[in-house]
Amino acid sequence: KEEPTLSIIVVGASGDLAKKKIFPALFALFYENCLPENFTVFGFSRTEMNDEELRTMISKTLTCRIDQRENCGEKMDHFLQRCFYHSGQYNSEDDFSGLDCKLKEKEAGRLPNRLFYLSIPPNIFVDVVRCVSHRASSASGWTRVIVEKPFGRDSDSSRELTRSFKQYLSEDQIFRIDHYLGKELVENLSVLRFSNLVFEPLWSRNYIRNVQLIFSEDFGTEGRGGYFDNYGIIRDIMQNHLLQILALFAMETPVSLDAEDIRNEKVKVLRSMKPLKLQDVVVGQYKGHSKGNKSYSGYTDDPTVPNNSVTPTFAAAALFIDNARWDGVPFLMKAGKALHTKRAEIRVQFRHVPGNLYKKTFGTDLDKATNELVLRVQPDEAIYLKINNKVPGLGMRLDRTDLNLCYSTRYRGEIPDAYERLLLDAIEGERRLFIRSDELDAAWSLFTPLLKELEEKKVAPELYPYGSRGPVGAHYLAAKHNVRWGDLSGEDS
Ligand code: BG6
Repeated sequence: KEEPTLSIIVVGASGDLAKKKIFPALFALFYENCLPENFTVFGFSRTEMNDEELRTMISKTLTCRIDQRENCGEKMDHFLQRCFYHSGQYNSEDDFSGLDCKLKEKEAGRLPNRLFYLSIPPNIFVDVVRCVSHRASSASGWTRVIVEKPFGRDSDSSRELTRSFKQYLSEDQIFRIDHYLGKELVENLSVLRFSNLVFEPLWSRNYIRNVQLIFSEDFGTEGRGGYFDNYGIIRDIMQNHLLQILALFAMETPVSLDAEDIRNEKVKVLRSMKPLKLQDVVVGQYKGHSKGNKSYSGYTDDPTVPNNSVTPTFAAAALFIDNARWDGVPFLMKAGKALHTKRAEIRVQFRHVPGNLYKKTFGTDLDKATNELVLRVQPDEAIYLKINNKVPGLGMRLDRTDLNLCYSTRYRGEIPDAYERLLLDAIEGERRLFIRSDELDAAWSLFTPLLKELEEKKVAPELYPYGSRGPVGAHYLAAKHNVRWGDLSGEDS
């Protein structure tokens, strides 16, 4: 039997994503002996470079995790020896033929499997896919292509992209990444729900009052203004990262852990939701702000962003799932750039205890006494449940406190980056964490009418100062649905 060999081709090797995420993730996998015995990494981009120059470029980006310090330098050298480079134009079939020759040389007659990572702007996705399929796909092994968003900007453009891909690749060759699905806590969501008796029975409208999906960053779009202005925060974060978490959170129990079973359930959730309307959202944009002697530029101060841009850098939205489990439960999303903190979390607020014996102890604000489960995706991964507890002593005083699972205390070592898991899954042909085309289509259907309306009406975003908690409108939106944002309650440690 032929021995297999794996070539990983990073198309767009000199770009930011490749340098920051992909090469370091490949090295981390190599360190952990997760890459096959025979593998090579090829960088492909337009920049003229030789193998040595690529290695120097990559070596600057590689790091070893705390638990990977042993022989780190030596491992890096071995890894770099497996890295090669081929420069070419993204739409030139001849240049991909050149790549094919080099790949064949390294494959040395073994069974060739090829994984292409498209770390390039979306306008050249299709050219590259065409060149790969015509000139650089494996003759006898598998060929897979990883792509990362944006997958279009609305339903039509996304469908067009899917259609073009399918001219050259079959669905099972396409691995659409949403890197949030590779995050430890997001993967853990299903484990928490389906392997603990205490959660799943509560997972419905009977016990859950609302669910909040929150993403915030404490920096703006500096340096990415050109890309961002064409997309905005709804397309950048909500339609993909937060919606994917929502689908995993709310799906019915899948038949099995197989990719198709899980993705079938996710699609069902998405298809049970109504497309968003203008009244379901609040949009914001950050403006310049000075704090002490430091000043922060506003979104439109970026020279690559038009002065009159109404692109939202913040959005809050209320979504509903029209099915028996979730009828009437608001799923609130909030995503923003240049806010006061960097954080991603899922918050589940439970209903009041019926006939609560301790009502008096809480005064009038019974909302403060409800349980809340928080899954902090980042930073400082944690799962904690807010409960009411008696303050020790002779009196009867209750206290809100946390049952707290803090990952850094409980588990040793750093958590692998999302890209490590996703790359490994793609190598192994595991599709569970990748987005199927019907899922993508369902996700766009929810947001496209809203995005069109925002753009047609040029809805002016509510301005909020850089580094603030975001527009006040988000509170009103939540209040309309009887919700208070958990992250702003001041209760979190
Ligand atoms: C990307 C968005 O998908 O995710 C960026 O395009 C955002 O705008 C990033 O900054 C956040 O990812 P992470 O893993 O740093 O939370």
